Amino acid sequence: MSKSKGSRLVYACQTCGFQSPKWLGKCPDCGEWNGFIEERAAPSSTSDPAKVGMFGLSATRPLRYADIESQDDSRRDSGIAEFDRVLGGGIVPGSLVLIGGEPGVGKSTLMAQVAGALSDSHGTVLYVSGEESERQIKLRGERLGLKADGLFLLPETCLERVLEQVDALGPAAIIVDSVQTVFSMKLESAPGSVSQVREVAGQFLILAKNRSLPVFLIGHVTKDGQLAGPKALEHIVDTVLYFEGERHHNHRIIRAVKNRFGAANEIGIFEMTERGLVPVANPSAMFLSERPVGAAGSVVVAALEGSRPILVELQALVSSSQYGTGKRMTVGVDANRVSLLMAMLEKRLGMHLIGDDVYLNVAGGIELDEPAVDLGLVAAIVSSYRNRAIDERTVVFGEVGLAGEVRAISQASSRLREAVAMGFRRAVLPQTNIAGLPALDDGLELVGVRSVAEAIDALF
Ligand code: TYD
Ligand code: MG
Repeated sequence: MSKSKGSRLVYACQTCGFQSPKWLGKCPDCGEWNGFIEERAAPSSTSDPAKVGMFGLSATRPLRYADIESQDDSRRDSGIAEFDRVLGGGIVPGSLVLIGGEPGVGKSTLMAQVAGALSDSHGTVLYVSGEESERQIKLRGERLGLKADGLFLLPETCLERVLEQVDALGPAAIIVDSVQTVFSMKLESAPGSVSQVREVAGQFLILAKNRSLPVFLIGHVTKDGQLAGPKALEHIVDTVLYFEGERHHNHRIIRAVKNRFGAANEIGIFEMTERGLVPVANPSAMFLSERPVGAAGSVVVAALEGSRPILVELQALVSSSQYGTGKRMTVGVDANRVSLLMAMLEKRLGMHLIGDDVYLNVAGGIELDEPAVDLGLVAAIVSSYRNRAIDERTVVFGEVGLAGEVRAISQASSRLREAVAMGFRRAVLPQTNIAGLPALDDGLELVGVRSVAEAIDALF
C-alpha cells in the first residue's frame, strides 16, 4: 500500500505539524526551533467517492435539525467522579479524548484505573499498549487493586492490527497507551512522527464516531520535540486533558484544555498514593494546608477553576537586587500579567520596584490564568515590599486595570461561599460585585474596593 507513486518528501514540524518542501530551522507556524523532520507525504486515500463523507462514512445528506437525537442523556459515569468532572460530567459515547502529560506523571496509572472501573460497569474494555508488556500492566493493575473481569490487554503497535482486534472483540471503550507508539502501515514515516500520530488519531476518530464508543489516547508531552507532541492532535480530538504542574508534588491536577462536550478549564485533583490516584475531596484545604502563618508576601485568592472555586495561596518575594535591574520570575502565573501589574504599581502608587528582584509563586503547583487573581498578585507584591503580613483569614480577588481600578469578576458568590466554608472572615473584592450578591448570613465581612489604593488601605 505504501509505495504509491504520489508520495513525496516533505519536512514536517514535530510540534505543530506545519509542512514545508524544504528543511527549516524555525517553524513559521508555531515558532519552535529544530522541529523539522523528513517525512513522506501521505498518499491520498480518498479516491473512492463513496468514502469521502465525514468520518469515512458513505456520503452524507442534510438532516433535519429537529430529527436529530439529543445525546446529552447518554453520558456515562466512568466510576471515578473526579475524572467525570474533568470530562464535563461523564464519558460521551463516540468521543475521542486525548490525555497528555510528561512521562512518569501518571497517565497510565489513571487510565488503568479508568479501564478497571469502566470494565466493571460497562463490559469489555480494550487497553492497547505499545509501551508496556501485558505483565507490566497486570503488575500495575494488581497494585491498584483492579479486578476488572472485562478488561482486555493488547500489546500491539500496528494500527491495522489493532483495528482488526477491535472488530473481533467489540469493546465498549478503548484506551491507547500511547498514541506515539502506534503506527499505520499506510505511511512510511516513523512511529511518533506528526503524520503517523495524526493518521492514527484520525483512524481512531472514525472508529469512535462509527461505533459510538469512547476512545482515549494517551500522548506524551516531550520537550525536545522528537516525538510529535499532543499539540499536533488538539484539533482532531474532541477533548484534551493535560496533567498540569510538576510530578514532584504528591497531587496531580488534570485540566480539560479543550472540550467539545463540556466546559473547558475544568480540573480534577488527585493524590498519587501507593494504590494509584485518589481523588482529593477538598482541594482548597489541600492547597492551604502548608500555608505559613503571619508571613509577609503570602495571600489567599479565590480562583475559579472550571466550575469550581478553589482557594489558593499566592506568594511574593520582593528583595533588593544585587545588580542594577531586578530579576522577575513567576511560577504558576503569567509573567506578562505580573509585569503589567508591577508597571501599574510603579506609576499609580509610586512604588519603586525597578531595582528589586520580584518572585511570584502559586503554592501547590496549580496554574492560575484568570484576571480575578490580579488583586491577589498586587496584594502579595505590596505585602512583601512593605514587609507587612496580610491577615490570614482574609481572602482577596478582583481584576485590576492599568489605571489601578479594580474591576468586577465572575461568580463572586461561589468564591465567597468557598471562603466561608474554609473559615475565612473577611473578603476584599470589587465594589461592583457587591451590588449583585445575594444576602450572605455567614459572618463574612465584605470589603468592596474600587481601586488598588483602596484595597491596600483595607489590607494593611
Ligand atoms: P505512570 O502512570 O506509569 O506514568 P506515565 O504513564 O504518565 O508515564 O506512573 C508513573 C509514576 O507513578 C511512577 O513514578 C510510580 C507512580 N505510581 C505510584 O506512586 N502509585 C501507583 O499506584 C502507581 C501505579 C504508580
Ligand atoms: Mg505510561
